[in-house]
Amino acid sequence: MELVSLPSEMRRIAEDLRRRDGTIAFVPTMGFLHDGHLALMREGRQRASVLVVSIFVNPSQFGPNEDFERYPRALQKDLEKIERIPADYVFAPDTRAMLPADTETWVEVTGVTRGLCGAHRPGHFRGVTTIVAKLFNLVQPHIAIFGEKDFQQLRAIQKMVHDLNFAVEIIPHPIVREPDGLAMSSRNAYLSPKQRNEALALSQSLFAARELSAAGTRDPDAIVQAARRVLDRSADIKLEYLEAVDWETLAKPSAHRSMLLAVAARVGDTRLIDNIALHNPA
Ligand code: PAF
Repeated sequence: MELVSLPSEMRRIAEDLRRRDGTIAFVPTMGFLHDGHLALMREGRQRASVLVVSIFVNPSQFGPNEDFERYPRALQKDLEKIERIPADYVFAPDTRAMLPADTETWVEVTGVTRGLCGAHRPGHFRGVTTIVAKLFNLVQPHIAIFGEKDFQQLRAIQKMVHDLNFAVEIIPHPIVREPDGLAMSSRNAYLSPKQRNEALALSQSLFAARELSAAGTRDPDAIVQAARRVLDRSADIKLEYLEAVDWETLAKPSAHRSMLLAVAARVGDTRLIDNIALHNPA
């Protein structure tokens, strides 16, 4: 496994691999890897001859009062985990190499980033799509794997790839959960044992909604209310949003189409997100 830090070197390697007919799978991450990330890497490993993983804590997707400075970092441990997959290349560039101070170009997807997290984190998705576009240019992957926990991010990247004609196939990967249902996230490391227990209400609220939907209720308001009742039992959860949206477009939902129920909440100072697909069986 080779550690690459210079963008120019990553690009040279990718061009060389492509010339030699290698198929490149790519898993972009911000490090502090958990089993959810490793599942994405295993998927990539199976689907292509070369696996590239990036580790880059991207300042441009954090707001001024967000956790960029304290975001957990553990490069050495991450490399050991990736080695066990194994990946072929780990691209871990410097902040300034990826985002020089004179950067003037940004990639912004408008429609699907308007609601949900986009409404609460101004500039977040612009930072994500800009850095992912740059990573795609440097790594030149044939496929890239993204987790469905960041469902709005997944839709934004799919839209960017479509609109800007990137030659990469986006492979969504289902959310990886702890045995008790908590969606895996690097930010779970911030939670005290008590907060971690409180945080379970997020997935439990989504599971309650899924049960209702599976029993035949398709009214988005009734589904949101069922989830809300579970969240309301936890005094320590500060809800940011709980919304049912169209699974495809993330716009207003319709009872006749598949929906996504998405939640964002703070447990203490930690912001957590989760979601569940409520597919229309008809
Ligand atoms: O999902 C993440 O970890 C990040 O948003 C990503 C895709 C690596 C871009 O910085």
